[in-house]
Amino acid sequence: MNPFGRFDDSKREYVITRPDTPLPWLNYLGQDEFFGLCTNTAGGYTFWKDAKMRRLTRYRYNNVPYDLGGRYIYVNDGGSVWNPGWKPVKAKLDSYECRHGLGYTRIIGKKKGLEVEMLFFVPPGENLELWKVTVRNKSKTKKQPKIFTFQEFCLFDAANDMNNLQRTYSIGEVEIEGSAIYHKTEYRERRNHYTLFACTRPIDGYDTSRDAFVGIHEGLHDPKVPFAGKCTKSKAFGWNPIGAHQINLKLLPGQEETISFVLAYVDQGKEPKYDKLYVMNKKVGKAIVDKYSKPGAVDAAFANLGKVWMDLLSNFQAKSPNAHANRMLNVWNQYQCMATFNMSRSASMYETGIGRGMGFRDSNQDLLGFVHMIPSRARERILDIAATQLSDGTCFHQYQPLTKEGNAEIGGDFYDDHLWLVLSTCAYIKETGDVSILQAPCAYADQPDAKTDLLHHLEVSMAYTMKKRGPHGLPLIGHADWNDCLNLNCFSTEPNESFQCAGDVKGSNAESVMIAGLFLYASREMAALYDFLGHAADATRMRQGYDEMLNVIETQAWDGEWYRRAYDAAGTPVGSKENPEGKIFIESQGWCVLGGAGQNNGRAKQAMESVHKHLFTKNGVVLQQPPYSTYHVELGEVTSYPPGVKENAGIFCHNNTWINLGWCLLGDGDRALEYYLSICPSAKENQIETYRSEPYVYAQMIAGKDAVCFGEAKNSWLTGTAAWTFVSVAEGILGIKADYKGLSVNPCIPKAWKGFTATRKFRGVEYQIEVKNPNKICKGVKSVTVDGKKVAGNVIPFETGKKVVKVEITLEA
Ligand code: GLC
Ligand code: GLC
Repeated sequence: MNPFGRFDDSKREYVITRPDTPLPWLNYLGQDEFFGLCTNTAGGYTFWKDAKMRRLTRYRYNNVPYDLGGRYIYVNDGGSVWNPGWKPVKAKLDSYECRHGLGYTRIIGKKKGLEVEMLFFVPPGENLELWKVTVRNKSKTKKQPKIFTFQEFCLFDAANDMNNLQRTYSIGEVEIEGSAIYHKTEYRERRNHYTLFACTRPIDGYDTSRDAFVGIHEGLHDPKVPFAGKCTKSKAFGWNPIGAHQINLKLLPGQEETISFVLAYVDQGKEPKYDKLYVMNKKVGKAIVDKYSKPGAVDAAFANLGKVWMDLLSNFQAKSPNAHANRMLNVWNQYQCMATFNMSRSASMYETGIGRGMGFRDSNQDLLGFVHMIPSRARERILDIAATQLSDGTCFHQYQPLTKEGNAEIGGDFYDDHLWLVLSTCAYIKETGDVSILQAPCAYADQPDAKTDLLHHLEVSMAYTMKKRGPHGLPLIGHADWNDCLNLNCFSTEPNESFQCAGDVKGSNAESVMIAGLFLYASREMAALYDFLGHAADATRMRQGYDEMLNVIETQAWDGEWYRRAYDAAGTPVGSKENPEGKIFIESQGWCVLGGAGQNNGRAKQAMESVHKHLFTKNGVVLQQPPYSTYHVELGEVTSYPPGVKENAGIFCHNNTWINLGWCLLGDGDRALEYYLSICPSAKENQIETYRSEPYVYAQMIAGKDAVCFGEAKNSWLTGTAAWTFVSVAEGILGIKADYKGLSVNPCIPKAWKGFTATRKFRGVEYQIEVKNPNKICKGVKSVTVDGKKVAGNVIPFETGKKVVKVEITLEA
């Protein structure tokens, strides 16, 4: 079916069987603070916390080929030079296999009877990456292969490293001691950290100068040293420092040897920086190498990684009749949610790590697919994000993970940002019952001494949208709302400026229906929160705000068959039948329906049917129709893209999930699953030559029907699609949702499903849920039994003291 690979569901691995995949297929190493990107040919790089400010190894973007530079092992077997991951030498291998697993990648290459296996992973809780390399002589003769490692060090500040060569070419420094290479550029001045790349056994040579190891006119595909078969003991002095070790092996037929390497970020802490002039104090680094030089230490760390992931995933497991939904939900989707939680939009094959940091709206949404795994980290994240809000309610659109400070590179004044904080905070409290977070001290970015708490931020957020409204009574949009490219106040005419930062939003009038719908949703969340807290007056106040905004939407935003998207600065509707192009948009249908608009007047159903008629395709729902054929200064970036891609009528998978949730709300489980499968990567294996991206993680975008490459996925991994798909399947289709007083169960499944089972851990209790659907319906919980006793309604009340709770549910019309 897929000539490039397959799922190994029982091992929770994706197995790639050919290195020349349609695009590099990526995995992430690391789950806490130390991360690596690793492709199926061992390409990628490593950083600590922040891909821009603490980059440990180098990578070049927009490279040729796409993916070059990485964790390379060169093998010289009697003069024949190759890499087990095929690249960069690209010698023909007799066999190749890459297994991307949860937090690790294992690549095995074989040539002329010599097999080399590389296992890369980051042990949980540690700031280092381990490489376990096993070399096996599978031939009938004695072999004496030489193994060379290769890593190019990045001089920590990745942006400077790329563009300030007049400085960087003169500052690179290393020390070499035994089998360890210490990359210590800038350590003499303000840095108190270095990168360590060490072998845990004696070596037969090393190099630390790229010019010596690779050459000046050579490339990574024909580097001097591996072909010559001998390291030169070069010591980098400026230019480009690297880490390379040489190990000479003697292997009898059937014999194998394992060699381990440590790549670590070492913080000196309180240790003295130097032993003597120019000689670093290496105590901390040596302790790390010692730890992993002990027999069994690397294997124990790897076993622990497996256990950590088993535990994380055990929080939600389901068995449904659909194999795609099962493997994505149970393994890959939750795994991707960890990556988006950690990485936000910073480092992938499409995000260079030197551009965007943590997004305000993005990180709040990413949390929705993560909070059930590690609520304590979600709590910390919410408070970090909230601290980048300004006292008037607006937000820094993004912040730097290392400093946790807002960065203004992409501007501010995205008038949806603050509302997502309500969604993430409520999700956290529902998951944990921990209302104390609301009183956690939390200042504003422009008033760092303010004695405010998180609840204050939520109130300021709601008030901002309520207050900042335009001529129709709808919320103002600012530079853009969720759709970064709908820039209705920017009027950009200058090719060198950012669409989002152009124009002054002060006194602007353009309005967003999508924000209005999101506001409905957020007001309901706030009202329910206040109910739970027993603050009746506040709950009522939120409901009044809701009613007022609902009235505005129904009177000002209905277009006849769907909800309009916006009003531009001149008051002209956007996303209306009156427009020649861009007549109908997806976001306002999704959020108005999810916010509860159109419930009593049939509009919700009609809006969704319009989506089906105008926007749905076999590869997902396009963002709008018809695409814009020309640039409109009054609409901004959305009209800049060629038809069918990105926000100009591409399939933006993120917002597809809101439509899926809409179908669940309306009770159509067949549509919900059909829509889900239309963007599900696992279901694309039979069209992989068109789809091209990884079959195990969601992509931000699939080219829409107006593009020449309809069905081609792009920008995989770091997308809000991850968290929202988890929500749409776990909480929408399977209907299992944390709520303030207990676990709510209200599935909306395809009629043909006979039922499903699921295990959900919630506040320390394991709920074993069985849903039966004897009457072939989509939705309708009539009877719920909890440990054999009937319960009224569909919320299983939370009780402490229990370990396992059995829940049986029957759907009835
Ligand atoms: C990107 C951004 C996200 C935005 C979306 C739509 O995914 O990260 O913040 O909402 O594009 O423009
Ligand atoms: C660009 C992209 C859009 C993304 C935004 C991030 O506008 O087209 O998809 O969300 O940058 O700010």
